[in-house]
Amino acid sequence: MSLLTALQRALLVISSILFVQTTCASATTSEGSFSQLAFYDELRFEEGATVTRQGNLDVVDDVSICHLATLLPLSSVEGDHNDTGSTRTPFTTLGSFRGAAAMMLAMSHLNSGNGSIIPELAQTPQTCPQLRFTMELLDSQLDERKAIDHVIGMVQRNDPKDQPLPCAFVGSYRSAVSMPTSIITGLQGYPQWAAMSTSSALDNPDQFPLAGRLNPSDDGTAVAAILFFQSIQVQHLAVLHTSDAYGNAYVNGLIQAAAIHAPSMQILSVDLPFHASEEIIQRRVAKLKATGFRYFFGIIFDAVHYDPLMSEAVRQGIAGTGEHQWIFSDGVGVGRMIGAKHKPGSPLLAASRGTGMITAVGGLLKNAVEEDHPSQQQPTSPYDRLALALRDIQNNPYDLSYLSFKLPHYPEHPDYDASILFADPEFFHEPGLLAPFLYDTVAAIGLAACQEVASGITLAGDKHYQRTLQTNFDGATGRVVLNPETGTREATSALFSLTNFVQDDTNNMDPDGNVGIRAVVANVFQNGNWTTLEPYIFNDGSTVPTLDLPPSKVDANYIHTAARALILFFGCSIMILSMAFATWTKLHSSDRVVRASQPVFLFIICIGTFFMGVSVLLLSFDDAVLRSIGCQAACIGFPWALCLGFALTASALFTKTHRINLIVNQRQFRRVAVTALDVMKPMFCLVGINALTLILWNALNPAEWVRETTDYDAFGRPSHSIAYCSYEGAIPYIITLAITNVGAIFYACYEAYVARDVSTEYAESEYIFKSMATVLVVCFIGIPMAFVTEESTTVHRCTLAAVISACSLSFQLYIFVPKIKFNRQAIRDVHGNSNNTASRRQSGVFRVSSTRSLSSESTGEEFGVRVFNRKHRETDLVSEVHKLKKQNMKLQMEINTLKAGRDESSLELTRQNSSKSVTFDESSMIETTSCSIGHRSLRSIAVSEAESIITIDPLHPDDESNLDVAPF
Ligand SMILES: *[C@@H]1O[C@H](CO)[C@@H](O)[C@H](O)[C@H]1NC(C)=O
Ligand SMILES: *[C@@H]1O[C@H](CO)[C@@H](O)[C@H](O)[C@H]1NC(C)=O
Ligand SMILES: *[C@@H]1O[C@H](CO)[C@@H](O)[C@H](O)[C@H]1NC(C)=O
Repeated sequence: MSLLTALQRALLVISSILFVQTTCASATTSEGSFSQLAFYDELRFEEGATVTRQGNLDVVDDVSICHLATLLPLSSVEGDHNDTGSTRTPFTTLGSFRGAAAMMLAMSHLNSGNGSIIPELAQTPQTCPQLRFTMELLDSQLDERKAIDHVIGMVQRNDPKDQPLPCAFVGSYRSAVSMPTSIITGLQGYPQWAAMSTSSALDNPDQFPLAGRLNPSDDGTAVAAILFFQSIQVQHLAVLHTSDAYGNAYVNGLIQAAAIHAPSMQILSVDLPFHASEEIIQRRVAKLKATGFRYFFGIIFDAVHYDPLMSEAVRQGIAGTGEHQWIFSDGVGVGRMIGAKHKPGSPLLAASRGTGMITAVGGLLKNAVEEDHPSQQQPTSPYDRLALALRDIQNNPYDLSYLSFKLPHYPEHPDYDASILFADPEFFHEPGLLAPFLYDTVAAIGLAACQEVASGITLAGDKHYQRTLQTNFDGATGRVVLNPETGTREATSALFSLTNFVQDDTNNMDPDGNVGIRAVVANVFQNGNWTTLEPYIFNDGSTVPTLDLPPSKVDANYIHTAARALILFFGCSIMILSMAFATWTKLHSSDRVVRASQPVFLFIICIGTFFMGVSVLLLSFDDAVLRSIGCQAACIGFPWALCLGFALTASALFTKTHRINLIVNQRQFRRVAVTALDVMKPMFCLVGINALTLILWNALNPAEWVRETTDYDAFGRPSHSIAYCSYEGAIPYIITLAITNVGAIFYACYEAYVARDVSTEYAESEYIFKSMATVLVVCFIGIPMAFVTEESTTVHRCTLAAVISACSLSFQLYIFVPKIKFNRQAIRDVHGNSNNTASRRQSGVFRVSSTRSLSSESTGEEFGVRVFNRKHRETDLVSEVHKLKKQNMKLQMEINTLKAGRDESSLELTRQNSSKSVTFDESSMIETTSCSIGHRSLRSIAVSEAESIITIDPLHPDDESNLDVAPF
């Protein structure tokens, strides 16, 4: 026996005697119901009293005393964990003090046989006349080390005369505290009855042989919670739980309950150490935020976690937003929530309003007993009767002072005085969470002990425990039924409530303008069903549950508006250009430039490019602007417009070149009949192959408009989708079309190559070749790009549109712009009345002089464009130079001869007629010139457009310095 315990004992004795004397003296008039508890406390210290230990009972003389050691969280220490420099505050949130009062009430009822709350208690004086109950309050401070210290101190007591030895333990609150203490008490042979320890880990009878509880485990609450969330269509729930026995078991219970009752619910859990630093809280809140969920279930302890956690949650935007809902386990007590006062606009106020708390409850106060008229209305349920009895304690100074006396005192915290709580007249108004359970716990322990003692056997711990498990009665918390395997209250016999914390706007704005929080029991869960008592108000102030996830945003990959506008612009430009060029061709169909170029082909080119423009236009449609049936039509129409347009244009061009080659590249100038039908045969063939392929394609593998999801968000909802024309099984057709059309381009290039030496009047072959080459280059770059960019609709469509537009424009601009230019030039030349020389060299191309073409037109004989065969011309010119050189030499000789003759007879000639000689000389020169010009190959041919017959130009056989062929 240490000096300390001796001192403690002495202190206890002195204070008890003092208490009894002072209170008896002061409260003689209205002796409280706790007076006899004080009496039995005192009994063993009386002089001459003999105290022996029988089983778990202290027998004082002939009175057997069952001493209940009660571990409850009564105070919490803030600041440093060392005792100096810290402040101690009473722990009120759960109703520990009311719970202690309820225990005292139960003991006094057991001792006196008062069956006013539980009728069974009335029998105890008869059943076990010698059994009495006392208790001792130990402050567990929510801390397992403190609690274990208390328990060890308790079980090490060995002198009942000196200090009461325990008969059973009650408490503590936190499962993490109850579990280690239960191991010790179980090993020492003392039953321990947990007070609201809800961890299902305590169910294990091997580990905790003598542990039991009158409250259901978290597995029961978890079922209630899951069913509540299911009832408001929450499918995604983030759980923040303390990483202790309580939190871990609770979250397991939730997951198991969800697996059974809400299989589609997704639960993500984040653990939080019990002693969490600011940084850890910050990280855990960030983790919660990262889930993206909007419903949070907090399995936390309000005294330790609530303020820092919720402040941080508000800071990070997952609380107090109106969209995020927090519901807590019973670790967040009503007492603390309604006790806190918040500055208007403070983060904690925003976070706290509209929150909820799900807990097993002893009972609910009926409206009938809300008013303080117990005499008028006989309360029916044990819970209501307990609530009234607790209110009576408020009016009983003796009882209050006994309660205060029993509370632990802390000499190192002289400022700490929990008894000032009782000065609040409202303090006992609500029973709180613990009181009904603790009342029933004491009643169950007492009834079992009474029966055990009555059966003549001393009270052994395990027997007492087993007997308690079999004790059934209608207690303050409803019908008490314990599971004989686990020692835990059956969930079916329990009542759960969802308390809604709402902003208290109605009354008592306190002088500082602070706002309080009101607790409203909104829903009750009983027998597997939630019943609504009051509408639950959510954080946004409405009674409509917010969606459990942020609204889903599906990126449908529509064509970007700007891109769509661009594609439309391209398509329309091409179509308008086609129409404009067709109009121009029509208007100038009588002009030589147009007639020379054969308007039929120009019109075909216009039609072809128009179709290509249509295909570009079709690219701008998707299901953002059209119904899917319209999109499907566009899908089908696109290859038609593109292939036919392309085939028409390309074939018109290569036909043109082909015709030139046909005419020019023959050495003998025989008449070649090339009808329009003849040259158009390849065109019909090409267009026919395209059309046939397209028809087969449409008939056998029709294109479909498909929208498919390509990506899902974190919640498994579609977040990205892509729409496209599904050309399934179209590969053979596409390859056929590609080969045909690209082949046509290659063929056109080949024709243009063959015609490389043929220079037409308006350099047409050259421009055709340029346009073909441009198209080829664009296709080589564009088609692979179109394949690569299939992922993004916008880019894909833009690439396609750009490729087609480039092809189309290169056709249109290379063909028409030079013609327009030439035509203007021709018109200007006519009006300018310029009298050019027959031909002049201009960038390697000979252009027919306007005077000549005018004269030709006036004759109506020459229709086609002039074609200059460079090779022939070259040889002609070379031979001409040769001849001229010869002539020159001849003439030079002649001159020399003449000079010599003149020299000889100059005197005579000068005398006769000097002027005649000069005239002769000049005329001779002129003759020579004309002679040289007239000496010419007769390779000037003209082709009549109407007949497409090559004829040797009969009118101008010898007036041009070049080969003159006019096939177009
Ligand atoms: C207790 O806390 C105070 C203030 O933080 C400190 O000065 C003191 O050293 C601590 N004492 C012990 C025993 O740790
Ligand atoms: C029984 O207990 C109740 C509540 O504490 C009290 O009001 C009542 O007076 C008691 N009855 C007797 C007979 O003491
Ligand atoms: C729960 O409520 C439903 C209908 O509201 C009812 O059919 C069912 O029987 C109830 N379950 C229990 C256990 O009372």
